Amino acid sequence: MERTFAMLKPGVLQRRIVGEVLSRFERKGLKIVGLKLMQMDRSLVEAHYKEHVGKEFYEKLVSYTLSGPVVAMVLQGDGVIATVRRLVGPTDVTNAQPGTIRGDFAYQTRLNIVHASDSPASAEREINLFFKEQELIDWEDGNERWF
Ligand code: PPS
Repeated sequence: MERTFAMLKPGVLQRRIVGEVLSRFERKGLKIVGLKLMQMDRSLVEAHYKEHVGKEFYEKLVSYTLSGPVVAMVLQGDGVIATVRRLVGPTDVTNAQPGTIRGDFAYQTRLNIVHASDSPASAEREINLFFKEQELIDWEDGNERWF
Protein backbone atom coordinates (compact mmCIF):
# COMPACT_ATOMS: atom_id res chain seq x y z
CA MET A 1 0.00 0.00 0.00
CA GLU A 2 1.34 3.40 -0.99
CA ARG A 3 2.36 5.87 1.73
CA THR A 4 3.34 9.52 1.62
CA PHE A 5 4.78 12.06 4.02
CA ALA A 6 3.32 15.50 4.69
CA MET A 7 4.38 18.20 7.13
CA LEU A 8 2.41 21.22 8.31
CA LYS A 9 4.96 24.02 8.60
CA PRO A 10 5.34 26.30 11.68
CA GLY A 11 3.00 28.95 10.23
CA VAL A 12 0.11 26.52 10.50
CA LEU A 13 0.57 26.25 14.27
CA GLN A 14 1.10 30.01 14.59
CA ARG A 15 -2.12 30.71 12.67
CA ARG A 16 -4.11 28.09 14.66
CA ILE A 17 -5.27 26.36 11.48
CA VAL A 18 -3.92 22.85 12.16
CA GLY A 19 -7.45 21.44 12.35
CA GLU A 20 -8.56 23.18 9.16
CA VAL A 21 -5.59 21.91 7.17
CA LEU A 22 -5.81 18.37 8.56
CA SER A 23 -9.50 18.32 7.72
CA ARG A 24 -8.65 18.86 4.03
CA PHE A 25 -6.89 15.48 4.05
CA GLU A 26 -9.57 13.78 6.14
CA ARG A 27 -12.58 15.01 4.22
CA LYS A 28 -10.98 13.69 1.02
CA GLY A 29 -11.10 10.30 2.76
CA LEU A 30 -7.36 9.87 3.17
CA LYS A 31 -6.15 7.56 5.92
CA ILE A 32 -3.71 9.02 8.46
CA VAL A 33 -1.42 6.27 9.78
CA GLY A 34 1.16 8.49 11.52
CA LEU A 35 0.81 11.91 13.16
CA LYS A 36 2.94 13.94 15.56
CA LEU A 37 3.71 17.46 16.74
CA MET A 38 7.44 18.03 16.86
CA GLN A 39 10.12 20.70 17.08
CA MET A 40 12.66 19.72 14.43
CA ASP A 41 16.35 20.21 15.14
CA ARG A 42 18.81 21.59 12.61
CA SER A 43 20.21 18.21 11.61
CA LEU A 44 16.74 16.86 10.80
CA VAL A 45 15.84 19.98 8.79
CA GLU A 46 19.13 19.73 6.86
CA ALA A 47 18.54 16.04 6.14
CA HIS A 48 14.96 16.70 5.06
CA TYR A 49 15.87 19.54 2.67
CA LYS A 50 19.28 18.22 1.57
CA GLU A 51 18.46 18.52 -2.16
CA HIS A 52 18.15 22.29 -1.72
CA VAL A 53 21.57 22.89 -0.11
CA GLY A 54 23.26 25.82 -1.86
CA LYS A 55 20.09 27.33 -3.34
CA GLU A 56 19.61 31.02 -2.63
CA PHE A 57 16.56 30.38 -0.44
CA TYR A 58 18.13 27.49 1.54
CA GLU A 59 19.05 29.34 4.76
CA LYS A 60 15.65 31.04 4.91
CA LEU A 61 13.95 27.69 4.37
CA VAL A 62 15.96 26.12 7.21
CA SER A 63 15.41 29.00 9.66
CA TYR A 64 11.69 29.18 8.88
CA THR A 65 11.31 25.43 9.42
CA LEU A 66 13.09 25.78 12.78
CA SER A 67 10.95 28.75 13.86
CA GLY A 68 8.35 26.62 15.67
CA PRO A 69 6.78 23.19 15.86
CA VAL A 70 5.58 21.28 12.82
CA VAL A 71 2.98 18.55 12.44
CA ALA A 72 4.43 15.52 10.66
CA MET A 73 2.18 12.85 9.19
CA VAL A 74 2.04 9.75 7.06
CA LEU A 75 -0.95 9.10 4.83
CA GLN A 76 -1.68 5.74 3.24
CA GLY A 77 -3.72 4.58 0.26
CA ASP A 78 -3.67 3.83 -3.45
CA GLY A 79 -2.19 6.78 -5.37
CA VAL A 80 -1.85 8.82 -2.19
CA ILE A 81 1.41 10.58 -3.23
CA ALA A 82 -0.22 12.22 -6.25
CA THR A 83 -3.55 12.78 -4.47
CA VAL A 84 -1.87 14.69 -1.63
CA ARG A 85 0.18 16.79 -4.07
CA ARG A 86 -3.03 17.73 -5.92
CA LEU A 87 -4.83 18.63 -2.68
CA VAL A 88 -1.84 20.72 -1.55
CA GLY A 89 -1.35 22.57 -4.86
CA PRO A 90 1.86 23.76 -6.53
CA THR A 91 4.93 24.90 -4.57
CA ASP A 92 4.79 28.32 -6.25
CA VAL A 93 1.69 29.59 -4.49
CA THR A 94 1.01 32.17 -7.19
CA ASN A 95 -0.06 29.17 -9.33
CA ALA A 96 -2.10 27.51 -6.57
CA GLN A 97 -5.78 27.43 -7.42
CA PRO A 98 -8.45 28.27 -4.84
CA GLY A 99 -9.68 24.98 -3.41
CA THR A 100 -6.16 23.67 -2.89
CA ILE A 101 -4.58 24.03 0.55
CA ARG A 102 -1.92 26.45 -0.69
CA GLY A 103 -4.44 28.26 -2.89
CA ASP A 104 -6.66 28.88 0.11
CA PHE A 105 -4.13 29.51 2.90
CA ALA A 106 -0.83 30.75 1.42
CA TYR A 107 0.20 33.85 -0.49
CA GLN A 108 4.03 33.51 -0.32
CA THR A 109 5.97 30.44 -1.54
CA ARG A 110 8.31 30.52 1.46
CA LEU A 111 5.23 30.33 3.71
CA ASN A 112 3.53 27.66 1.64
CA ILE A 113 1.89 25.95 4.63
CA VAL A 114 2.62 22.33 3.90
CA HIS A 115 5.35 20.10 2.54
CA ALA A 116 4.35 16.92 0.69
CA SER A 117 6.56 14.20 -0.81
CA ASP A 118 6.82 14.43 -4.59
CA SER A 119 7.75 10.82 -5.50
CA PRO A 120 7.81 7.27 -4.07
CA ALA A 121 11.55 7.62 -3.37
CA SER A 122 11.17 10.91 -1.49
CA ALA A 123 8.13 9.58 0.40
CA GLU A 124 10.09 6.56 1.64
CA ARG A 125 13.12 8.67 2.57
CA GLU A 126 11.06 11.31 4.40
CA ILE A 127 8.85 8.80 6.26
CA ASN A 128 11.99 7.07 7.53
CA LEU A 129 13.51 10.39 8.61
CA PHE A 130 10.50 11.36 10.73
CA PHE A 131 8.90 8.11 11.90
CA LYS A 132 9.92 4.77 13.33
CA GLU A 133 7.98 1.85 11.85
CA GLN A 134 6.30 1.21 15.23
CA GLU A 135 4.90 4.76 15.22
CA LEU A 136 2.84 3.97 12.11
CA ILE A 137 -0.53 2.37 12.75
CA ASP A 138 -2.16 0.59 9.83
CA TRP A 139 -5.62 0.64 11.45
CA GLU A 140 -8.56 -1.22 9.96
CA ASP A 141 -10.68 1.01 7.76
CA GLY A 142 -14.18 -0.44 7.31
CA ASN A 143 -14.42 1.19 3.87
CA GLU A 144 -11.42 -0.71 2.54
CA ARG A 145 -13.47 -3.91 2.08
CA TRP A 146 -15.33 -2.19 -0.78
CA PHE A 147 -12.20 -1.19 -2.69
S1 PPS B 1 13.35 24.06 -6.55
O1 PPS B 1 14.57 24.86 -6.66
O2 PPS B 1 12.44 24.25 -7.71
O3 PPS B 1 13.63 22.63 -6.31
O4 PPS B 1 12.66 24.62 -5.28
P1 PPS B 1 11.12 24.62 -4.98
O5 PPS B 1 10.54 23.24 -5.30
O6 PPS B 1 10.47 25.79 -5.62
O7 PPS B 1 11.10 24.83 -3.41
C1 PPS B 1 11.67 23.89 -2.55
C2 PPS B 1 11.28 24.21 -1.13
O8 PPS B 1 11.85 25.46 -0.77
C3 PPS B 1 10.82 26.37 -0.35
N1 PPS B 1 11.15 27.72 -0.80
C4 PPS B 1 11.50 28.70 0.02
N2 PPS B 1 11.66 28.76 1.34
C5 PPS B 1 12.03 29.95 1.89
N3 PPS B 1 12.26 31.07 1.17
C6 PPS B 1 12.10 31.06 -0.16
N4 PPS B 1 12.35 32.18 -0.85
C7 PPS B 1 11.72 29.84 -0.80
N5 PPS B 1 11.50 29.46 -2.09
C8 PPS B 1 11.16 28.15 -2.06
C9 PPS B 1 9.56 25.85 -0.94
O9 PPS B 1 8.47 26.23 -0.14
C10 PPS B 1 9.78 24.35 -0.94
O10 PPS B 1 9.47 23.82 0.33
P2 PPS B 1 8.63 22.48 0.47
O11 PPS B 1 8.60 22.21 1.93
O12 PPS B 1 9.35 21.40 -0.30
O13 PPS B 1 7.27 22.79 -0.09
